[in-house]
Amino acid sequence: MARNLLHRAFLVAGVSLLALIPDSKAQPAHASPTTPDVELSLRAVPKEVEIFPGTKTRVWSYEGALIQGPADSLTPSESYLGPTLRFRTGQRVRIHFSNELPEESIIHWHGLDVPAEMDGHPHSTVGEAGKFSYEFTVENRAGLYWYHPHPHMRTGYQVYQGLAGLFIVSDAEEAALELPRGESESLLVIQDRKFDDQKQLQYLTSPMERHMGVFGDTLLINGSLNLEKTVPRGPHRVRILNGSNARVYHLGWEDGRPLQLIGTDGGLLSEPVTRSRVMLAPGERLDVWVDFSGAEAGAAARLMSYPLVEGRGDPFAVFQFRFSDARSAAAALPQALSRIKKIDAQEAVNATAPKSFAVTMDRNIGWTINGRGYEMHEVAPEEIIKLGTTEIWEFANQSGMPHPLHIHGQQFQVLERTSGRFTSAFDGGWKDTVLLLPGDRVKLIQRFPRPGWFVYHCHILEHEDMSMMRNYRVIE
Ligand code: C2O
Ligand code: CU
Ligand code: CU
Repeated sequence: MARNLLHRAFLVAGVSLLALIPDSKAQPAHASPTTPDVELSLRAVPKEVEIFPGTKTRVWSYEGALIQGPADSLTPSESYLGPTLRFRTGQRVRIHFSNELPEESIIHWHGLDVPAEMDGHPHSTVGEAGKFSYEFTVENRAGLYWYHPHPHMRTGYQVYQGLAGLFIVSDAEEAALELPRGESESLLVIQDRKFDDQKQLQYLTSPMERHMGVFGDTLLINGSLNLEKTVPRGPHRVRILNGSNARVYHLGWEDGRPLQLIGTDGGLLSEPVTRSRVMLAPGERLDVWVDFSGAEAGAAARLMSYPLVEGRGDPFAVFQFRFSDARSAAAALPQALSRIKKIDAQEAVNATAPKSFAVTMDRNIGWTINGRGYEMHEVAPEEIIKLGTTEIWEFANQSGMPHPLHIHGQQFQVLERTSGRFTSAFDGGWKDTVLLLPGDRVKLIQRFPRPGWFVYHCHILEHEDMSMMRNYRVIE
């Protein structure tokens, strides 16, 4: 507690003090044995943003401030999204979270490999005016990760109100590739929302939404209604997060060119993969390379979302790239992107007997995993794992709805998918969220090198809040 008080004192006085002291190397008084490479604060606050011209929409948002570290560690967003955080693998990070919302909250670092106490488990929530200081080393490889709140039964509401941001990790392997950057790189956070006549956010307006998840009728990219950007011609890198509460997008280029995939949840693939269309479920990320070299200035290319089932619904534009006169000098697409070691199924302690997790609907509980809903301090026998081991888990979707299953802790690999009627999910590379379409069975393999309590859950946030979340516990 004393430590927390010190943190608080520093946060109150520290920011302005640092501004007054000309020595930029000034250290906080409570500096712990390891001085962080990057230190920043994130406050969750209610605020108003102008999404619709001339109108203020009330949102909740993360306001960030860089306390020390490289200037590009934190880039504020122009809308309700939290600042984009940029780190390099190996950096020691300290993040002071302060909850200025009228209810409890906590931040979770989606996809990041951090100790259990730093992961934003629902039992770590802090109340109104509460604070939590995170301290960890960025262990992940380069990739597009993200952060969002994780209080039990309120995650859907809080994310919908605007609480989410990107967490980008870079490393030497990625930097050596000369992938398109600057003007030739786009970061897209896809979200759908509903607004009332006053242009205020509308959430859970019917019991059906609790069951299906909340779908919006308005598409926002990076918190904005502007779905177009002018970019130079030449190779382009598009990194996409599906930050929606419930909607699965089925992405493809309108002009019929294939999607050139170069990365997924846990960073770059080993080599590029080509697909005509790919589904992207809530929580998942996709890294796409596209060559706009042949385009004419003034022309445009559109990234579309197609119906999940052919003929059921209309395609709609997700984002449009308009070409300027400029040409970028970015290099051609490298054929070798990164080194990914396949985890051998034989490494698993249960290689011959995968644990199975059935996704079903229970009349009394709601959406469940193996017939159970969430209990904050409970684990079932199959949810106990021995530290340092590798396990195979098999999820079976026995319902008529898609469910993206997300596991905290380590990134995993998909060993096998038995598809029901759909085939456009993408399972390559390192994953932390895997889409289970109706009837799908997915086998994945994961290592468990950190002790403690973690959660796994459906990333349709209304399902997660309702009950479709469980703990797993790694014991020594
Ligand atoms: Cu993106 Cu447990 O969450
Ligand atoms: Cu997560
Ligand atoms: Cu679900």
